[in-house]
Amino acid sequence: DASDIEKGTYPHFMLKEIDEQPIVMRKIIKEYQNENNELKLDEEIRAAMKAADRIYIIAAGTSYHAGLVGKEFIEKLAKIPVEVHVASEFSYNMPLLSEKPLFIFISQSGETADSRAVLVKIKEMGHPALTITNVPGSTLSREADYTLHLYAGPEIAVASTKAYTAQIAVLAILAVDTARAKGLELDFDPMQELAIVANAMDVLTAQKEEIEQLARDYLSTTRNAFFIGRSADFNVSLEGSLKLKEISYIQAEGFAGGELKHGTIALIEKGTPVIALATQENVNYSIRGNVQEVVARGANALIVSMKGLEQDDDAFVLPKVHELLTPLASVVPLQLLAYYAALHRGCDVDKPRNLAKSVTVE
Ligand code: G6P
Repeated sequence: DASDIEKGTYPHFMLKEIDEQPIVMRKIIKEYQNENNELKLDEEIRAAMKAADRIYIIAAGTSYHAGLVGKEFIEKLAKIPVEVHVASEFSYNMPLLSEKPLFIFISQSGETADSRAVLVKIKEMGHPALTITNVPGSTLSREADYTLHLYAGPEIAVASTKAYTAQIAVLAILAVDTARAKGLELDFDPMQELAIVANAMDVLTAQKEEIEQLARDYLSTTRNAFFIGRSADFNVSLEGSLKLKEISYIQAEGFAGGELKHGTIALIEKGTPVIALATQENVNYSIRGNVQEVVARGANALIVSMKGLEQDDDAFVLPKVHELLTPLASVVPLQLLAYYAALHRGCDVDKPRNLAKSVTVE
């Protein structure tokens, strides 16, 4: 059928979409830059960002996880406080809002009913809304005041991959644009750093054999798995665990490295896989301490670190990218781990049971 033709030589859309990530990064760099190499964003969006005293990011699933990463960018670069909310919770339990809120809806499809319910409510209240979506013209895009396009191309696999990294890249550009509009000094050039990320993604997507072997070694028979990380790595550990559970049905959870000892460590048994991310210099020492704690209780630790921070026993070392953008690199091996784990376990990678690509009911 037609979808088989689109897949080309790939066995699954998910693998194709993972491989498209460096191309999407380069597309975003091109689309968000003018001929003078200046960031190209709608003036109205710039003004709305500048005017906000607090930003509320609303999303579901993988898009929610991208929002967690985006919060870091907006707070660190543009110095605006950000709250990230799961859409289905926000509708019925609205937090106290600031005086000049701006709502950012992150949605690959632009059709998620839980997010739309929030959009309808906050529009009734008279608040401005920006939708970041892969589908301009979608419901969330039409009903919001402003839209930013992800330029990721159609994403067919139910498990989102290239939309997540596109969302993060666009959020980084938005944060820098806002910072510049506010006259803040930055020593961070987003386009240069995203170009480095694209090259790192080329390297990572070429390491499929190594990652397939890791999936075989760590995930082929296990019933559960843990992902741990601190700060930016914690955000990615949530996405890594979501990918794994969505398509391989392995019960997986992401945890903050320091939180393990407050309960979760009770679940560690001999052979339990613990995938630890170590891409952040300021927590490199402490996350490795957390790894030792689980290894002492029998865990099978797989450490994914970044060049410059690596140690002898690390299973996988990422090429170096800017510290703010590490999620764009570290998520790639986690996507591939989930893919190969699902493949080896005979799961339907592109159409996992019980899941839909976009959920248009509340
Ligand atoms: C569904 C999909 C997820 C996705 C979520 C949000 O649950 O299965 O992969 O992350 O919806 O979708 P959206 O289109 O709003 O990003």
